[in-house]
Amino acid sequence: MRSLRNFFLYKCLFALTFWNHVSLSVENELFTSVSNNSPEDGSDKKINSLPLLYANSHQSKANFDWVVIQNTTESLSLSEITNENVKRLVALLSNIRQGSRLQNLTLTNVSVDWNALIQILQTVWHSSIQYLSIKSVTQLSDIERCEFDYSGTSMKALIMEKVVITDLFFSQDDLYKIFADMNIAALTITDSKMIHMLCPSSDSPLRHLNFLKNDLTDLLFEKCDKLHQLETLILQRNKFESLLKVSFMTSRMKSLKYLDMSSNLLRHEGAGTQCQWAESLTELDLSSNQLTDAVFECLPVNIQNLNLQSNQISSVPRGMAKLKALTELNLALNHLADLPGCGSFTSLEFLNVEMNSILTPSADFFQSCPRVRELQAGQNPFKCSCELRDFIRGERQSGGRLFGWPAAYTCEYPEDLRGMQLKDFHLSELACNTALLLVTALLLTLVLVAVVAFLCIYLDVPWYVRMTWQWTQTKRRAWHNHPAEQETVLQFHAFISYSERDALWVKDELIPNLEKGEGCVQLCQHERNFIPGKSIVENIINCIEKSYKSIFVLSPNFVQSEWCHYELYFAHHKLFSENSSSLILILLEPIPPYIIPTRYHKLKALMAKRTYLEWPKERSKRALFWANLRAAININLPMADGRRF
Ligand SMILES: *[C@@H]1O[C@H](CO)[C@@H](O)[C@H](O)[C@H]1NC(C)=O
Ligand SMILES: *[C@@H]1O[C@H](CO)[C@@H](O)[C@H](O)[C@H]1NC(C)=O
Ligand SMILES: *[C@@H]1O[C@H](CO)[C@@H](O)[C@H](O)[C@H]1NC(C)=O
Repeated sequence: MRSLRNFFLYKCLFALTFWNHVSLSVENELFTSVSNNSPEDGSDKKINSLPLLYANSHQSKANFDWVVIQNTTESLSLSEITNENVKRLVALLSNIRQGSRLQNLTLTNVSVDWNALIQILQTVWHSSIQYLSIKSVTQLSDIERCEFDYSGTSMKALIMEKVVITDLFFSQDDLYKIFADMNIAALTITDSKMIHMLCPSSDSPLRHLNFLKNDLTDLLFEKCDKLHQLETLILQRNKFESLLKVSFMTSRMKSLKYLDMSSNLLRHEGAGTQCQWAESLTELDLSSNQLTDAVFECLPVNIQNLNLQSNQISSVPRGMAKLKALTELNLALNHLADLPGCGSFTSLEFLNVEMNSILTPSADFFQSCPRVRELQAGQNPFKCSCELRDFIRGERQSGGRLFGWPAAYTCEYPEDLRGMQLKDFHLSELACNTALLLVTALLLTLVLVAVVAFLCIYLDVPWYVRMTWQWTQTKRRAWHNHPAEQETVLQFHAFISYSERDALWVKDELIPNLEKGEGCVQLCQHERNFIPGKSIVENIINCIEKSYKSIFVLSPNFVQSEWCHYELYFAHHKLFSENSSSLILILLEPIPPYIIPTRYHKLKALMAKRTYLEWPKERSKRALFWANLRAAININLPMADGRRF
């Protein structure tokens, strides 16, 4: 009986406004509800006796009863609430008096009209229920103005999810007023295409408001000063456009701490009116909007945690107002080209700049931001060049404050290093330091010049090169002219090289002494055996080639003769190329080492070895000298009968 009384007591007044449109007949309304709420597979549901009218239109088990999902002393969860069973539901709820232990009521798949919904709410308002959830409200129709008795309630929170209104024309205020004036701590209306909400008509006890995923605009709570106690406001995924207006909205919410404005269409143009935020606001989520650098002109002064992820910020302006309390800043997924400094954020502890456009992050970040405990800078398109080395070095000094190191930090440029982890990227000091590079190049050039100069001046390398070239040329010509004689036939025992000034001694002493007697040493002497028409060099080479040994008559005169030096060089060349000891040195007069030109290093070396025969001044010793020399030359020529040139 009580339920009926309640029904009439709270029945909404049919205040017919001109918005009210075509009203459906009761039969039609019922019919619609029944047909939409009789599941084909409702086998587990109790079949009520049906009026004949409906029984005919539904061959299957039509069901006006709700489905119990949960039934405990503290919470009750029902599904499939329709206009048919709503009276019995209201009756049931009327029996849950205040003082009962039932706290939580959840209704799902609610397909009732506006009046029935208000009845349910009104009944719950005067029961022991503290948390009411109404999910999937389909076909909410016939919205009209109602009186609602908010007094003496246990209610703490109302959650409405997925409310679909089928009315096309109705006064929005009739709908919103009921919710705006609710004297509860938490109100959630989500996923309901709600386009507006009224400001409460008197000071509201609301502390948490959640209007996630609706169609709310900048007009929400304009100049509303009745939400003094509001602490949390979630307006994620709505249609807000102006950050300025959002700031004005919060300015009268004296207790607001957390505001979630993510996934809206927020912009801020900067110039002009100053933003006004609630001073109490400490946490603000502005992620996934369309904000640019100008957003930094419009931020709550006492903000501690700011999320600006997924916007269009390209830099943090230098001259922006200081945010002294800011400890956590998320700038991921923006267009930043460098790490922001900490000039404006003196308390910053956590910074996220992942997935921006940072090619070369400045290396002094950790120095300029000593309070930062964690920097997330991964997944940026790092350009692996000399400038980046400082950042990598900074990582080592940061003591693990770089979050995600090393996996999230890879080279993007240059192409050939793409994908390489920054920790594996090394460049030598030389490659990066231009001054050092220049100095090194200069030093190398100097050393090279010095070496070349030494080779040219001291060792007379060009001379040797020229001579070697002539040697090879001669050999080649010889090969072309007489290929058959390639196997050079030794025709002489020895070739004598001497200075023209020592010619007298050679002709008077050496040749007579060697060629006379039983050994019959055959000598190649340039005056006698040189072939006219050939160059001197060619003649020398020829003579040396055809001789078994080369005798050099050393004296200060020899040292001063360039031709003698040629001869010595070629003989030495032969010595090396044929690997035999064919040099015989006769020291005619002592040569003071200082008169040997420095470039005759070969001669110097030979002299130093002291492997020469000294010409004795005393006549008595000369016999031994000749014997020695003969022994040194002694060799049987293949053609000892001697064919002379
Ligand atoms: C819940 O269970 C109690 C008994 O356990 C029962 O009396 C009551 O009718 C049930 N409520 C509903 C809505 O089914
Ligand atoms: C009732 O609902 C609230 C909010 O959803 C929840 O925190 C609480 O644990 C629930 N109580 C019971 C007894 O289920
Ligand atoms: C609500 O109804 C839909 C279909 O209309 C069904 O799929 C879903 O399971 C129902 N929910 C509950 C909790 O019964």
